[in-house]
Amino acid sequence: MAVKGCFYPDFRGYDRTKYKSLEYIKAAVPFQKEDTAVYFIARDKWKKALLLCDATKSSMKKIKCIQLLVAQLRLFHYGMSHNKKKGGCVMGRQIVISAKHLKKAFGKGESMQVIYSDLNIDIYKGDFTVIMGSSGAGKSTLMYSLSGMDKPDGGEICFDGTDITKLNNDRLAVFRRKQCGFVFQQIYLIDKMNLMDNVITAGVLTSKDREDIKTRAKELFSLVNIPEKTWRKTSSQISGGEAQRAGIVRAVINSPNVLFADEPTGALNSANSGAVLDVFTSLHKKGQSIVMVTHDKKSALRGNRIIYIKDGKIFGECDLGKFEQDNIERTEKLDQFIKEMGW
Ligand SMILES: Nc1ncnc2c1ncn2[C@@H]1O[C@H](COP(=O)(O)OP(=O)(O)O)[C@@H](O)[C@H]1O
Ligand SMILES: [Mg+2]
Repeated sequence: MAVKGCFYPDFRGYDRTKYKSLEYIKAAVPFQKEDTAVYFIARDKWKKALLLCDATKSSMKKIKCIQLLVAQLRLFHYGMSHNKKKGGCVMGRQIVISAKHLKKAFGKGESMQVIYSDLNIDIYKGDFTVIMGSSGAGKSTLMYSLSGMDKPDGGEICFDGTDITKLNNDRLAVFRRKQCGFVFQQIYLIDKMNLMDNVITAGVLTSKDREDIKTRAKELFSLVNIPEKTWRKTSSQISGGEAQRAGIVRAVINSPNVLFADEPTGALNSANSGAVLDVFTSLHKKGQSIVMVTHDKKSALRGNRIIYIKDGKIFGECDLGKFEQDNIERTEKLDQFIKEMGW
């Protein structure tokens, strides 16, 4: 069972004194069974039993039929997220990255440029989160912090239960390799290798079974519409759009927890951009969590949650999830939002 997230359960209104043994919980999968009751599955103090905890009735009982609960979890596959520090929770969504009080500045003394001094953001599992903002607003800097590519000067970033600001560089590199996939405007495929070998090279960093990696690579190449004859080509023999789609295959070959993309269509013409964005949409539909930085409206429209950063803060956010992909209302909603943000 995929038990992810390791915040202590900290539900609104939940009585801590009744849950003493749960102080030791290392993994909890919360989910909502009915509107009135909030349940979560947790391991007890000695990790011997799985418990079904009803947060509203302050009762716990051992789970007899784990299978049934797993099925229920799938049914309510968005969990309930909670935050250890704030003690708050958000119904129906599980947080994968929670960044608090982030600080980042470049330069020193008089030339110091503060990018953000107290930025807070939560990223939800399964979301296609888009970070927008004007050029120089700090979008890429934020993405680098959230993904552990660069350390903030202060604050904490809880990524699936690990505060990545506390990891040393070696552990951070291992963490990134396992948890994150990256797509940039520059694709950085190794031109001495064909596309398949580029992908396999990324895969063998985390998995030893070459055949497994190859099978997954083939599935992914098919998902991104790169035919078999093109696998054998190098990046100089294909179009920019094909190269970027191969770059996405490489980014997700290790099934990253979160796929990060920084202006992935920035160097592409509109036909190639569309094909690349279709890949992001397909991956999102398959449940991939995505964080994409862009200043392009067409790209932003693919996300379900748009975050606008300005003046070192989350200036506003917009939910596009309720509109169908090609619905005019989706475009109108985004247009209205970015206008309000002063775009
Ligand atoms: N490594 C760096 N050294 C100095 N300044 C930087 C560095 N990276 C980014 N900056 C500055 O920080 C600001 C925000 O950059 P960035 O996050 O790349 O913005 P955006 O992606 O929103 O365009 C910019 O003014 C940029 O010049
Ligand atoms: Mg940028």
